[in-house]
Amino acid sequence: MKLPQTVNILLLGSGGREHAFAWKIAQSPRLEKLFIAPGNAGTRSCGVNADLDPSNFPAIKQFVLNNYINLVVVGPEQPLVEGVKDYFLNDSEIRHIPVIGPSQEAARLEGSKEYAKAFMSRHGVPTAAYFTVTRDNVEEGCAFLSDKVQTPYVLKADGLAAGKGVLIIDDLAEAQAELRAMLEGKFGAASKKVVIEEFLSGIEVSVFVATDGKSYKILPEAKDYKRIGEGDTGPNTGGMGAVSPVPFATPEFMEKVRTRIVEPTIRGIREEELDYTGFIFIGLMNCGGEPKVIEYNVRMGDPETEVVLPRIRSDIIDLFEGIAHGTLEEKTITVTPRTAATVVCVSGGYPGGYAKGLPIQGLPTAAAGESGVEAEDETIVFHAGTALKGGETVTAGGRVLAVTSLGDSIPAATERSYGTIEGITYEGKYCRRDIGRDLL
Ligand code: AMP
Ligand code: GLY
Repeated sequence: MKLPQTVNILLLGSGGREHAFAWKIAQSPRLEKLFIAPGNAGTRSCGVNADLDPSNFPAIKQFVLNNYINLVVVGPEQPLVEGVKDYFLNDSEIRHIPVIGPSQEAARLEGSKEYAKAFMSRHGVPTAAYFTVTRDNVEEGCAFLSDKVQTPYVLKADGLAAGKGVLIIDDLAEAQAELRAMLEGKFGAASKKVVIEEFLSGIEVSVFVATDGKSYKILPEAKDYKRIGEGDTGPNTGGMGAVSPVPFATPEFMEKVRTRIVEPTIRGIREEELDYTGFIFIGLMNCGGEPKVIEYNVRMGDPETEVVLPRIRSDIIDLFEGIAHGTLEEKTITVTPRTAATVVCVSGGYPGGYAKGLPIQGLPTAAAGESGVEAEDETIVFHAGTALKGGETVTAGGRVLAVTSLGDSIPAATERSYGTIEGITYEGKYCRRDIGRDLL
């Protein structure tokens, strides 16, 4: 099976990741028409924004039928965890339209930490030791903390908690108290179940895999910068920047990742007959040269996508075709060896409260995607949280822009992005100045 030679695509989501997808899709000669739902001010230069809620499946169905959509690409996890893929498969009018993303069952690899840990343990994927606690076995949970693991203690809400459900605590008594508070609903329903984990020390790397459920392709890896402050200080954010490739992810290390982690993961998906046609984002810890899985996500990363896709030279619709129709094995992904770096500009106050609707000045007039050219030497300003208000581009989220550049080294790429950021202004603009510096 193949997609038609040219296709209409509906892309769900509205962040920097989706702008990067839209930018890459817009470069394909196989694109007829691209819609982004709901998109942002930047995605308008790559396609048509559609005012649709990615969680409103009946509305998506109607849009898909009205606009002769041939393929749906899902950016964020929420619609996947809510079962958008199953919704399509269970409806005879749209069953034939492929969705890039896993089924609801397979999306539990991200939606439930316990499900993911049990999957890893069934398939021999190296990860931290763990123990699952509910209100019924709190005492055992407290005993696991005191007897089986050492400080710092890692407590994770089982369900999706908007990236806030992980606590890392030094003191045992405090960890035991937090465990009880989580079970009592500190993170709502997400923490009715808590996974206690052994702490892994090392440096993190994000690995991305495309799969059609049978075979796989490993995409460029990336490192992201989660903390708000320079030197990895302060609270966690959605991601303040990213770099690809990652110097410590040597060919030897990546071969370990492939044989010990990616292969058994794909084998597990196959053996358990999970319906998985999409991207797997494996968050890994490099523990002294040995990779261990921290988490699975069932989508691409943000801001990692903003450095992964600009390094891919091959056609993305061909890749989607391989994923959707079980022909991934036949596809080739070509990647530039150059370095991509993205620096995220956020709203003042983020990740706490922040203002929205502030005008942004100095954005490049040919926004990313408009020229359709490849990002060989240009800086691409991906929009993350922006909106159009009365013809003016304004801030509309915590993460506002992700400014990506290619270069022959990490400093060459980041310097180019910082240069572009100089010229962009909005009240409260903040970015980390040290993206990539720890890798030099
Ligand atoms: P997660 O939501 O599982 O990605 O966890 C959020 C962050 O917490 C990760 O990106 C890590 O930085 C950290 N983390 C999670 N699990 C562990 C662990 N077992 N050991 C050390 N750090 C961890
Ligand atoms: N950058 C981390 C994530 O997308 O979850």
